[in-house]
Amino acid sequence: MAPMVNDPHTYFGQWLPRRSALLQELEQEAQKENIPIVGPVVGHLLYLLARLSGARRILELGTATGYSTLFLAQACRHTGGRVVTVESSAAMAERARHNFQQAGLAEYVDLQVGEALSWLQPAEGASSPLDMVFMDIDKAAYAPALPLCAQRLRSGGLLVADNTGFQDAHAFNTLIHGHPDWEMVNLWMFLPGHSPEMDGLCMALRV
Ligand SMILES: C[S@@+](CC[C@H](N)C(=O)[O-])C[C@H]1O[C@@H](n2cnc3c(N)ncnc32)[C@H](O)[C@@H]1O
Repeated sequence: MAPMVNDPHTYFGQWLPRRSALLQELEQEAQKENIPIVGPVVGHLLYLLARLSGARRILELGTATGYSTLFLAQACRHTGGRVVTVESSAAMAERARHNFQQAGLAEYVDLQVGEALSWLQPAEGASSPLDMVFMDIDKAAYAPALPLCAQRLRSGGLLVADNTGFQDAHAFNTLIHGHPDWEMVNLWMFLPGHSPEMDGLCMALRV
């Protein structure tokens, strides 16, 4: 086998996507305050996945300061879509709202303060099915959220679940693996700037 790069963490740590001053400010803020954000690589991956799939109806569960939302909103600027993002902390939501305005992306975001699981329940009068869900809430809530995501996503829609390397995500990992509603991969990866930098990321297609 041909030789691999030395020290892949340092090597791949240098190839971070270019990003705005605001996103870099939010990364520093997250580090200082221990706010678990997805970081630039997963953020950019979300942007690419949303653009590649032409997602117009995106739901994000877990907003925090709106860092990951900004990548999805940036994709919506191209797809003509909108991100609904749900956050249980009113204080966090307020910070996120400010950041959406600062980024000039507020028109692509619908911020909802509340509990993600109740928000996921299918609405009376059936709202349009979703193209993409990004799940980044308490990991113990992933398993109960999964059947609701299956109900809300259209066939061919995309689910991305962050932090599947956490013990609390085990029930979710077990449930989705081989489930007939989903075609999925669960990757264990080095994710520079992600909280934490070695973690699992699950991507699944709604069958
Ligand atoms: C990991 S952080 C989200 C980080 C954000 N996605 C990013 O990468 O920039 C999780 C956020 O979800 C919120 N949260 C946790 N469980 C929730 C739930 N069940 N419903 C709604 N929000 C929740 C927390 O308050 C926290 O701000």
